[in-house]
Amino acid sequence: MIQTQGITKSFGNLQVLKGIDLTINKSEIVAIVGPSGAGKTTLLQIIGTLDTPDNGQLFINGTETGKLSEKELASFRNKNIGFVFQFHQLLPEFTALENVMIPALIAQEKAANAEKKAKEILDFMKLSDRMTHKPAELSGGEKQRVAVARALINNPSVILADEPSGSLDTKNKEELHSLFFELRDQMHQTFVIVTHDEQLAANTDRVIHIKDGVVLQ
Ligand SMILES: Nc1ncnc2c1ncn2[C@@H]1O[C@H](COP(=O)(O)OP(=O)(O)O)[C@@H](O)[C@H]1O
Ligand SMILES: [Mg+2]
Repeated sequence: MIQTQGITKSFGNLQVLKGIDLTINKSEIVAIVGPSGAGKTTLLQIIGTLDTPDNGQLFINGTETGKLSEKELASFRNKNIGFVFQFHQLLPEFTALENVMIPALIAQEKAANAEKKAKEILDFMKLSDRMTHKPAELSGGEKQRVAVARALINNPSVILADEPSGSLDTKNKEELHSLFFELRDQMHQTFVIVTHDEQLAANTDRVIHIKDGVVLQ
């Protein structure tokens, strides 16, 4: 489903990724772990097409993303990739419901459809009674679940998460992790999750260790 071949990336003189070959299958939760500065975020940004590699190829659902124009890539990303960051990055002036709807509206979906879908997802996450709240009125755990709902709304091929529970307390962390596994089991959702959480990593389908810009075997 996702395949990278020989991905390299440097910032100035610093070579951060030194040839990354990965395959990620549908319905799989893959954890990426490794020391700080190992290149995990850089790799996730490249898989998410937010950054481009110096060399190598990325295939998502058979599309070689490096062959797309800027405009095609923006549309491809909107439809195929959901993002969850360490800090929710919800838009503060919009309600939870509106935040979840935004990627669907960008994908030109009718507002009524986007609203219906957003409500279904928030309902699945037991956030129905929080829909009209703005981010500042939600707990940290609720904000992250809204961010997951937003990542899900366009039915992405994959959700990429960069330390998604890094700022949560134990209870909210466990709830968020359970949600990932529910979404895999019930909706066949694929996840690539960068994490320092050993318990989460141990429960995923596969752990990829990155150190000094290479995948450890
Ligand atoms: N935009 C950038 N410009 C310069 N250096 C960067 C940039 N992004 C990351 N780096 C450097 O690349 C290395 C890997 O960073 P990163 O991918 O964020 O690591 P990780 O997420 O594993 O902690 C670090 O040394 C970091 O300082
Ligand atoms: Mg990082």
